[in-house]
Amino acid sequence: MNGRKILVCVTGGIAAYKAPLLVRLCVKAGAEVKVVATDSAFDFVTPLTLSTVSKNPVESEFSDADGNWNNHVELGLWADVIVIAPATANTIGKMANGICDNLLLATYLSARCPVVVAPAMDLDMLQHPAVKKNLKTIAEFGNLIIEPTEGELASGLEGKGRMAEPEAIFEFVMKLVHA
Ligand SMILES: Cc1cc2nc3c(=O)[nH]c(=O)nc-3n(C[C@H](O)[C@H](O)[C@H](O)COP(=O)(O)O)c2cc1C
Repeated sequence: MNGRKILVCVTGGIAAYKAPLLVRLCVKAGAEVKVVATDSAFDFVTPLTLSTVSKNPVESEFSDADGNWNNHVELGLWADVIVIAPATANTIGKMANGICDNLLLATYLSARCPVVVAPAMDLDMLQHPAVKKNLKTIAEFGNLIIEPTEGELASGLEGKGRMAEPEAIFEFVMKLVHA
């Protein structure tokens, strides 16, 4: 991945605790990694962890405390690949409908590179017709969906909804950048 620019976008699902592992795999493979997260993501993983493993500041707001604009257009154009992992039902719904109420979504809408989406949610959420429709819509837009896997979910239920493992997402991105 030498020098490839990977923008890891983290949203507020329980699987966000695995995002640092994905970031680390990309960094170890020689990629330059930046992280954008939603506010909810920080309920599950700290900005300090993400900035430490990515070796870059983590962005989540349109502007910083000094009033400087975090340029989402530049961020979107900087990336060779965007990986949204985990992708919540909420963020997938907003992506499907062009909603732009945070830095992550503005960056996504500004990007010209391939976007990889790793959904993660409870099995009934994943089976809801609204979520299924939104996933179909974002796939039709050209986003690359990495199917969630089956197993034990954070709710205690068993079924499909677990985010693909960081190693599997990393392999997918590796193949994409070397295609
Ligand atoms: C403990 C807990 C776990 C959650 N896990 C998920 C999840 O795995 N997937 C999901 O789509 N939403 C999950 N949610 C709901 C999201 O956090 C919520 O929809 C939030 O608004 C998502 O915001 P974001 O998409 O801007 O990050 C969870 C909420 C809580 C409190």
